[in-house]
Amino acid sequence: MEQAKQTLSSPHNLQENLSHEHILILDFGSQVTQLIARRIRESGVYCEVWPFNQADEEKINAYNPKGIVLSGGPCSVLDKDSPRVPDCIFEMGVPVLGICYGQQVMVHQLGGVVEGEENKTDGSREFGRAFVDITEDSRLFSSDQDNKKWAKGSKEQVWMSHGDHVATLPEGFKAIGKSDGAPFAMIAHEDKNFYGVQFHPEVVHTTHGAALYKNFTHIICGCSGDWTMASFREEAIEKIRKQVGKSKVVCGLSGGVDSSVTAILLHEAIGDQLTCIYVDTGMMRAGESEQVVELFRNHYNIPLIHENCEDLFLGKLDGVSDPETKRKIIGSTFIDVFDDCATRIGGADFLAQGTLYPDVIESVSFTGGPSVTIKSHHNVGGLPERMNMKLVEPMRELFKDEVRALGRELGMPEEFIARHPFPGPGLAIRMPGEITREKLEILRAADTVYIDEIKKAGLYDEIWQAFAVLLPVKSVGVMGDGRTYEYVCALRAVTSTDGMTADYYPFEHEFLGRVMTRMINEVKGINRVVYDITSKPPGTIEWE
Ligand code: XMP
Repeated sequence: MEQAKQTLSSPHNLQENLSHEHILILDFGSQVTQLIARRIRESGVYCEVWPFNQADEEKINAYNPKGIVLSGGPCSVLDKDSPRVPDCIFEMGVPVLGICYGQQVMVHQLGGVVEGEENKTDGSREFGRAFVDITEDSRLFSSDQDNKKWAKGSKEQVWMSHGDHVATLPEGFKAIGKSDGAPFAMIAHEDKNFYGVQFHPEVVHTTHGAALYKNFTHIICGCSGDWTMASFREEAIEKIRKQVGKSKVVCGLSGGVDSSVTAILLHEAIGDQLTCIYVDTGMMRAGESEQVVELFRNHYNIPLIHENCEDLFLGKLDGVSDPETKRKIIGSTFIDVFDDCATRIGGADFLAQGTLYPDVIESVSFTGGPSVTIKSHHNVGGLPERMNMKLVEPMRELFKDEVRALGRELGMPEEFIARHPFPGPGLAIRMPGEITREKLEILRAADTVYIDEIKKAGLYDEIWQAFAVLLPVKSVGVMGDGRTYEYVCALRAVTSTDGMTADYYPFEHEFLGRVMTRMINEVKGINRVVYDITSKPPGTIEWE
């Protein structure tokens, strides 16, 4: 009964891991709230992100977290109607860590003073790298004194991003760290276990930020670190069996890590009740189909329908160049193929999807209203309604790095787990303009050369995603003594944490030169290579 009540109380209806120690993160709209969750999970502790305005006393009490983190956010506590923390949080006897806005709102609500930029005596705002001097001992600082991280007397590099600042502390608090621009960069109320930091320990630019989260979860909240992929695997298998019973499940495989791990976990749970469907759209990377079939059919012996639908997809896309139209055609054709396959196996009650936690977290909108659709992402979202299927989404609680860890736990080959993400519409969205078989062949060959060079240079795992794009532009070149008039290939490589924002990868010129030489020598149809240095935003990762 208690369990049922608790499950209903979550804003996200996750299959919560309430048997594990868990931390609650209240989101005030920071761009990096998800990183807080990742750092806490990395410390071996389960956590969930809830929008601040969906957390009331009843839900928080029912969830019963071991600790609460208040995220940063774009508002000022000095603004009328800016977000507040439910007061019960400060009365539950649970440790609280406030980050940036989270620190300010805690100070404000507990009787301290937050001031705007204009009241700063030295006039310095802090955006970007700063240094914090640790001035006092605190329980928030590491028991791991060997490394001298966050120890009295040490200086820590941190990432600041604030205009407002704490000017007066509430009763019972003391400053434990200061920076040039923030005398209360770190504060503590040791008796109540309330802590606040003005900077963002969750971003990599705060050099030892992860240690601070670990200290909070382990030392302050007393967590033991019981969140491991081995325990997740066991529990997820139980949950899948309970949910699915004796029913049949279909799972679409894209060749990507999310759907592959989903399928292998499901197979472990329900064996041959699972049928996987791999749709070869004709717009896959070189060798993709062979790899998927090899892994699933030969390595794991999982029932797999391998549908070769190249003619169907390319026929429907013939002459189409608008990016959104391409995406919609591909999405609806996938649904038709799935429908057909599921009928052939005698129908299925469940559809398995590799939905991840970042897709589940509702971000807080301060602008109100629906956000614009940038791209219609392809998935098999229309399928459950059309075929009257229920969803099985065992990865709903996991981040991408946890999915990879689970894949390793399940014994999947490394080359599968570490692969860069590949979008459902495949090479179709890496080829602005019309899709032709000739262009697909050129792009596949170009992509192979590029990825091969990245691997040889040992850079593959450092890059979040890399691929070639075939531009619908021809340019004049000279090869030998002859004139050429061929396509331009753009290279894309980005670093990212979740695909929501990205930076271009800073290759050395020598590397780019090597790729260019190989590409023009080996790939017939390309005579010019350019490198895309656009970040996201303003660009997106894919070109369409
Ligand atoms: P964008 O281009 O939106 O891409 O910056 C962000 C991440 O999502 C991938 N992507 C997709 N994945 N179906 C998918 O499964 C899609 O329709 C799709 N479109 C983009 C993209 O490769 C990048 O990793």
